[in-house]
Amino acid sequence: MDLFTIVTARADYEQGALVIIDQTQLPGREVYLALKTSEEIWEAIYLLKVRGAPAIGVAAAYGVAVCMQKVAATGFDDFYREFSRVKDYLASSRPTAVNLFTALERLNRALLKHQGVGVEILKQVLREEAEAIRKEDAEACRKIGEHGLSLLKPGMGLLTHCNAGHLAVSEYGTALAPIYLGQEQGFGFSVFVDETRPLLQGARLTAFELQKAGVNVTLICDNMASSVMKQGWVQAVLVGCDRVAANGDTANKIGTSGVAVLAKYYGIPFYVLGPTSTIDMDCPTGKEIKIEERDPAEVTEKWYDRRMAPEGIHVYNPAFDVTPAELITAIITEKGIAYFPFNDTFREWKKNK
Ligand code: MRU
Repeated sequence: MDLFTIVTARADYEQGALVIIDQTQLPGREVYLALKTSEEIWEAIYLLKVRGAPAIGVAAAYGVAVCMQKVAATGFDDFYREFSRVKDYLASSRPTAVNLFTALERLNRALLKHQGVGVEILKQVLREEAEAIRKEDAEACRKIGEHGLSLLKPGMGLLTHCNAGHLAVSEYGTALAPIYLGQEQGFGFSVFVDETRPLLQGARLTAFELQKAGVNVTLICDNMASSVMKQGWVQAVLVGCDRVAANGDTANKIGTSGVAVLAKYYGIPFYVLGPTSTIDMDCPTGKEIKIEERDPAEVTEKWYDRRMAPEGIHVYNPAFDVTPAELITAIITEKGIAYFPFNDTFREWKKNK
């Protein structure tokens, strides 16, 4: 199966389902799930069956649209009450990626603009808005790839953490977009992929994606990044983002800030790539970003066939960390490239939206 034929999330209105590829089964099995209730959709997001900031936003938007097609409401107020319930419920599935909230808020705004119309039209408004969100994310990927590639040279060694590729968005992804474009243009990159403990998005998903695309890829454990950098094998780090604060502080998968510290030490450019929808101007700095804490079992036993730590051990399992803006060489979006300090460029980008 060609990588780009894998569909991360789509709405099947005939079946009344949100259809996703179950990312927890990759790379071993390519299994699609048809999720028909808001509870199934909430659980799929929480359990990372669909994950990656833009993909969560798209899945939630399609999810709301799918659930609302089945609602037998008599008028706007009735419809809007049920919409708000489903929207707030799905918004509670994961707290860090801002795309989840912006996607749901977009549906909310679209509905509020159509208060005088019938319920069938309201259903159509939701379908169209959800599709627009997916389309805009996909279009952003290619532009992010072009801007990112302009900073890279043929033959470079690159390092990435977690998965910000096709599976996390659609099309080329964000952090992986310059790699896919470079691959098409014969850049011959060598890419080191951090396995990304504890849920192994790097090993299971990024390594799978890049290998399928024919990229020269080497998997490393997270604690090997310093070693490969020291040997001069890495000329740039590319990572995605879950929420970028107005000052450029960036929340991404746990371990990202450690990679940024290493990159600074070794003098390697550290690039964050994502759509402008991931920039949250309501969050002044990284301190205000809520970091998700997850089940200790992900650290002690998940993905292994036996327990990896003593029973009763205390575990700290944050899913994300915040990389301070001053460690980030550039933030690359569909609108262009921003350099530290980021505030003015972000304000400009958001103004022209
Ligand atoms: O917990 P996950 O797998 O959803 O975390 C994903 C990441 O941290 C990605 O790097 C980020 O969402 C960017 S995806 C384009």
